[in-house]
Amino acid sequence: MEIGIDKIGFYAPHYYVDMVKLAEARGIDPDKFTIGIGQDEMALAPVTQDAVTLAANAALQVLDEVDKEKIDLVLFGTESGIDHSKSAAVYIHHLLGLNPYARSIELKQACYSATAGIQMAKGHIALNPKSKVLVIGSDIARYGLATPGESTQGAGAVAMVISKDPKLLAIENESTYFTNDIMDFWRPLYSDTACVDGKFSNEQYIHFFNTVWEKYKEQTGRSLEDFAALCYHVPYTKMGWKALRTILEEGTEACGERLRAHYETSIQYNRKVGNIYTGSLYLSLLSLLEKNDSLKGGDRIGLYSYGSGAVGEFFTGILQHGYQQHLYVNQHEELFKARQEVSVEEYEEIFADTLPADGSTTSLDAANDPAAVYLSGVEDHKRIYVNRNN
Ligand code: COA
Repeated sequence: MEIGIDKIGFYAPHYYVDMVKLAEARGIDPDKFTIGIGQDEMALAPVTQDAVTLAANAALQVLDEVDKEKIDLVLFGTESGIDHSKSAAVYIHHLLGLNPYARSIELKQACYSATAGIQMAKGHIALNPKSKVLVIGSDIARYGLATPGESTQGAGAVAMVISKDPKLLAIENESTYFTNDIMDFWRPLYSDTACVDGKFSNEQYIHFFNTVWEKYKEQTGRSLEDFAALCYHVPYTKMGWKALRTILEEGTEACGERLRAHYETSIQYNRKVGNIYTGSLYLSLLSLLEKNDSLKGGDRIGLYSYGSGAVGEFFTGILQHGYQQHLYVNQHEELFKARQEVSVEEYEEIFADTLPADGSTTSLDAANDPAAVYLSGVEDHKRIYVNRNN
């Protein structure tokens, strides 16, 4: 039985910052952001969007009534959780109107957890072939104003339906994974911005990639030539390239050119959205699927997932025939077209506009937030969500 990604939905908040203008405001050469980091725009979440609403908005795009009935497991990968106890999965289970006979759980391991969700979903469907699983990666990446990490922020969510006979990508059984307890990036409970040892995290990202890639080749006997394309976790678009270039010499020149060209395609969306942590690898996969003009059914795609702290995994999928007919290209074009640029001053105000830390009652003005699902406020320490479609 083939199991894999049947649908992918994506949502990013409607505000964005131009990276050239951000660089100028910080007194930095814009080429550092657009070439050195590889980002053109950065999505910015207003206070009316959090990990739950971003995820619900991404999922609403793809779920039909059959999915809502058949989904009996919701796996919500995030490192922007809104509660230590209640999972974000339960909130979206309600907001999406899913079948009540379901398991709903939040998964955490930095940017890696949506990948854990996909692998768990695969096991669940192997045991329950009629089921579908909703896997989410949803985050708001916050490093702080005028910090070295500022240019690698972003916000957004990817929602994937995992099922048997998937229409997009069948996930193969072989995969290699690696855990090591390191402090490259973390966010203590008392902080709403991340702590990061940036250079160390870059180095470890590549080290973990080389480790799982070597083990994968050893386990499977496959080589670079077996891959039509490789997708990477993309905290910023230069990062995946730094890892990819370490192995390009293992293949022919033509293979290297193919992988490099597909890598460029795979980062088109990420260049405009920035870092969305758990969803970044899958936004990159989505960009590759929606923007390439040469990949075909039967092609093998490699995926490298990395979550600081750290866990890395290399796994693969086979592209399904006719996958192009099951994408939401027009909706994603519309989503990007409808976004509104904000000035650096406005970005700084929106960044500072956060919920009261003590949970006091707040009512939010969502008149400028066009999203279907938004956060309308906090009452009795409970977040109040609204789905405009209901
Ligand atoms: N034109 C073109 N490139 C330029 C440039 C210019 N004028 N000025 C600098 N650059 C390049 C640098 O050479 C460097 O490229 P390289 O990494 O290929 O050597 C790149 O821009 C970044 O410059 P650097 O000085 O290293 O940036 P930084 O110290 O401000 O921090 C990060 C960059 C990524 C470490 C920082 O943004 C960060 O900590 N981000 C969060 C952590 C993260 O995303 N980790 C990834 C693994 S999960």
